[in-house]
Amino acid sequence: KKVTLSVIKADVGSYPGHVVVPPELLDECEKHLEAAQKKKIINDFYVAHCGDDINLIMTHYRGVDSSEIHKLAWDSFKAATVVAKKMKLYGAGQDLLKDAFAGNVKGLGPGVAEMEFVERPAESIIVFAADKTDPGAFSLPFYRAFADPFCTPGLTIDPKMHPGFTFEVHDIVENKKIMLNTPEETYDLTALVGSTGHYLIKRIYRRIDNEISAVLSTDKLALIAGQYVGKDDPCAAARVQAGFPSVGEMIEPFAFPHLVSGWMRGSHRGPLMPVSELDARNSRLDGPSRVISLGFNISDGNLVGPQDLFADIAYDYTRKQAQEIADYMRRHGPFEPHRLGEEDMEYTNLPKILEKFKHRFENIK
Ligand code: 13P
Ligand code: 13P
Ligand code: MG
Ligand code: MG
Ligand code: MG
Repeated sequence: KKVTLSVIKADVGSYPGHVVVPPELLDECEKHLEAAQKKKIINDFYVAHCGDDINLIMTHYRGVDSSEIHKLAWDSFKAATVVAKKMKLYGAGQDLLKDAFAGNVKGLGPGVAEMEFVERPAESIIVFAADKTDPGAFSLPFYRAFADPFCTPGLTIDPKMHPGFTFEVHDIVENKKIMLNTPEETYDLTALVGSTGHYLIKRIYRRIDNEISAVLSTDKLALIAGQYVGKDDPCAAARVQAGFPSVGEMIEPFAFPHLVSGWMRGSHRGPLMPVSELDARNSRLDGPSRVISLGFNISDGNLVGPQDLFADIAYDYTRKQAQEIADYMRRHGPFEPHRLGEEDMEYTNLPKILEKFKHRFENIK
């Protein structure tokens, strides 16, 4: 029997501005998931939040893309939106971009990361969620955890990992996918996923037995809505230990606060700062972009945990570095590369500003 881990996220309102989800919204989601647990639709759940994003972490036996599970998530977010509207929260219902639910939340706004597998004797997993950034933020750390032996010693010394991993990469512009095998196609993989707004890692499989290892949300809100409606703050899940990256290997890449897109109005680059769930409150210029990681064991379909992994004081130094980088990037003000390039600004309100003085441009003789 295969268990399914579903992580479905949405921003349906926060306060003040885009800082944090209030407990009332989390309570509302918990109420819905608890009722679903009683009805045996799901086995277990944990409602997490990262900044203004609610992440529903659910275990069940209904497989990926189950319409019951997606409906449960959709209904929970809809109900939380009602609470958000009553509280006059900021961006109430922000990520619910379409009205009609037809069996799957894909393309409607919420982000989805789901995988189905046979539970191991000790099934350790890590759920990641990030705020004020986009799915490309996970490309560098997931590449490193699963393909870089300088990050992950297991690639060198664990016989199950040594044959490498297969990366399912999605071209989110053309809506196509390609499977690439590491280590021999490492350079091809980096040629693609280095373009963090175009080619995204969707799934990772262990080559020795084709077991699913990780899954990431790749949903892009601007591609759905046609304009800026809030960033596509992503979520992801990875299986760890015993032939997969260990807990420490999986979170090691986040000790480098790499530059990501999505800070302030979804239009700026800054460091990705790993924080505890409690510290995922984005204030400084609505950021800097943050990531949380919650570790669980799955036991007969139940979630044991979470353990808040970035709460570790060993990440204090990374946070300090992130703040120095944040300061450095901020000094660029409205200039690139702090502000995103023009291609990425086309979905924001900037084109409307540019429109205003279009008629004042004259030809240069
Ligand atoms: P407003 O334009 O609604 O003030 O929001 C700006 C912002 O925070 C971008 O999401
Ligand atoms: P969210 O995408 O997290 O709603 O943030 C909006 C924003 O750009 C705040 O500056
Ligand atoms: Mg928001
Ligand atoms: Mg957000
Ligand atoms: Mg529980």
